[in-house]
Amino acid sequence: MAKAKEVTMKTSIKYHQDDPWRLSEATFDPAHLGKYEAIFALGNGYLGTRAATEEANTGEVRNTFVAGTFDRLNEDEVTELPNLPDVFQVALVFNGQRLDLNQGKVLDYERSLNLKTGELSRHFIWRFGRNRYRITTSRFVSLARRHVMGQRIEVTALDGDATLKLSAGINGQVTNTGTQHFNDDVKRLYPHHILQLTTKTNESQVNFAITTQHRLSVPDDRLGYVKTEMLRRRLRATYTLPLTKDDPLTFESITTVYTSRDLDVAYKDRASLRRQGYQAALALEKMNFRQLLTESAAAWADKLWTPMPLEIDTDHARDQLAINFARYHLQIMTPGHDSRMNVAAKGLSGEGYKGHTFWDTEIFLLPYFIFSQPEVARSLVTYRYLGLHGARTKAADNGYRGAQYPWEAAWVDDGESTPVWGATDIVTGEATKIWSGFIEQHITADVAYGVEQYMRATDDEEFARTRGNEIIIDTARFWCSRLEWNPDVDRYEINNVVGPDEYKEHANNNAFTNHMAHWNLLQAMQLIDRLKTNEPAEYQRLDERLDLAALRPEIEERLGKLYLPAPNAEAIIPEDDAYLTLPTIDLKPYLTAGRVGALFDDYNLEQVNHLQVTKQADVILLLFLFERHFSKRVKLKNWQYYEPRTTHDSSLSLLTHTNFAADLGLKRKAYSYYRRARDIDMGTNMNSSDEGIHAASIAGIWSMTVLGFGGVRYLDGRLRIEPNLPDQWRQLSFCLWWHGQKLAVTETNQTLKIRNLTGTRVVEIDHAGASVEIPTHDEVLITR
Ligand code: BGC
Repeated sequence: MAKAKEVTMKTSIKYHQDDPWRLSEATFDPAHLGKYEAIFALGNGYLGTRAATEEANTGEVRNTFVAGTFDRLNEDEVTELPNLPDVFQVALVFNGQRLDLNQGKVLDYERSLNLKTGELSRHFIWRFGRNRYRITTSRFVSLARRHVMGQRIEVTALDGDATLKLSAGINGQVTNTGTQHFNDDVKRLYPHHILQLTTKTNESQVNFAITTQHRLSVPDDRLGYVKTEMLRRRLRATYTLPLTKDDPLTFESITTVYTSRDLDVAYKDRASLRRQGYQAALALEKMNFRQLLTESAAAWADKLWTPMPLEIDTDHARDQLAINFARYHLQIMTPGHDSRMNVAAKGLSGEGYKGHTFWDTEIFLLPYFIFSQPEVARSLVTYRYLGLHGARTKAADNGYRGAQYPWEAAWVDDGESTPVWGATDIVTGEATKIWSGFIEQHITADVAYGVEQYMRATDDEEFARTRGNEIIIDTARFWCSRLEWNPDVDRYEINNVVGPDEYKEHANNNAFTNHMAHWNLLQAMQLIDRLKTNEPAEYQRLDERLDLAALRPEIEERLGKLYLPAPNAEAIIPEDDAYLTLPTIDLKPYLTAGRVGALFDDYNLEQVNHLQVTKQADVILLLFLFERHFSKRVKLKNWQYYEPRTTHDSSLSLLTHTNFAADLGLKRKAYSYYRRARDIDMGTNMNSSDEGIHAASIAGIWSMTVLGFGGVRYLDGRLRIEPNLPDQWRQLSFCLWWHGQKLAVTETNQTLKIRNLTGTRVVEIDHAGASVEIPTHDEVLITR
């Protein structure tokens, strides 16, 4: 079959038709530094670093983060993830001329991220005057050793001998877009070219030790004068090196980062961290850059690619690239090692959203981890357990009972972390108030939804008993106190909220919110009943803490009278009380503008509030999550109604539309939405990722592949598999975890094959309306 070609705009991004593990920048693109910094980010869930180039460039954003090390500038600001001192910028000066790719000529350029090994490499020839220099670089953040990152630069003079001045070090003169989070630096130089900076965040007082060792291919006795400088917030070593024509010279730096928040660091005071960093540098001396990189590449294979293969048989190479890209990023963005932290909306790849966690985790990211890495999913839901204190404080502050989860969460104890003021209103010229932290309340039910899904998909009874049950019940307790009785119509309502469609502020009875709250209440009631009958000791424990005896009848009463927006005569579920009465506008110009937020060139948020315009999947998401509660007719009608009114101004929207269209059998629509969603970060929109990649949308690439097209779904405690492959794919194969069993699934549009690899338990799945058993260590082949 002929290879299918994707129509690509002319950009510097290069996709390799024959290599689904490589993504490249084909020519140096100084106008789009942010794109590559984010999509080529490196990390391991603990450390994350943007791919700023070795040489400094105007407009670069040089970020390195350690997950969970939040700091707050002052009372007026919310907490954010501080940007660490940088170790990757290296100045190269050839015969007095500083390497600058905007000068001279750049030949044979390519920068590539190898998604399989986590290596970022770059090569080019720089011609300045009559001289050409070949520069080859490589960089990684170790997946095998959480605290370690490495960099290698190889330089060759091609046209004659030259002198190279190379300056590298630790640069603490970094900020989060101007905000300085560190103080109290201590700088140290040790023998063997080891440089160290210890520093501390201003408010949260997190200690950091950053230690870097420089290794040069020139022996020390030939190094000559090495200039080391301790500048104000900066340590730098400058090496003056003779370059002999055609004889490559290498510079390597191996860096470790330790902080006082690390669970694997025993002594967290400054002096101990300093010692830890120094000793680690000495211990690492026995390995060179290549060995450390090889070890890290092996960890990628061992942890991810070998145990959880995922292959698409297709001529559309970009689809396989996308799933590799997605799983690579999901791995580097997720702090699965420490349940006091969670995934940030931009991962560890940018300052956008300040490192905060949203409902993105439970609704969009968690399914990937539940089905692929249940131990990481456990850590993510444990984070919400640890956040109960903050959630209870938020509820109490607002006059409610139970646990009300923050819309934006940071450090577990912080509670609500959403900023109060946002962008400038184009009409009033004043800062726009961000209401989400006050009234985007569906997050509380979303958290319960994620926790319940985790518990039932994994059968992790220990988690349920020690953490999960309490979350389900205390979130329901919040809803009991939150519902408002409307005596005019004899029902409970939820008024003055922001739903997933954040273009409707102060909405009454947002359908998604009401249904999710109802689901939360129902889960809690059923759980209380189950515990009472089957686990009296657990019932009693929770009864003592949460007064289940009184709560149970209260929930039942609320459940009976909570208003659930239902399909009207035309089968449309009103997004909220007002939505269907609002005027419509011609959205076409904004939908075809090809950028997010185009609508706001002409309208302000207040005006959009009064239009039938939806930011992202809202009713559609409700129908997707609760597919068994609504008829196919209702789903289709609502699709037809809401799809043309949705701007997809949130990156969470397209993926839900893909999955829902796939469920509805709208194959062409589904694939076309898929391609748009797939390309949010990886595609040719060169500014979309400036502030960091879109974590939920990247998880969406997996979700569209396995849940949407693969037809895998968690539904009311059961696993359903109903393949729905696009015509562009011949076969999809993947592994997934269910009830502690690993299943290998192979799908075509005619067949479904499932093998139980773990084989300690029979697994039951739903398929084509029937239940199918997969015996232990056996395979079931279904012809469709
Ligand atoms: C979306 C939210 C989302 C947040 C972080 C916003 O633009 O509307 O639903 O949680 O981004 O990704």
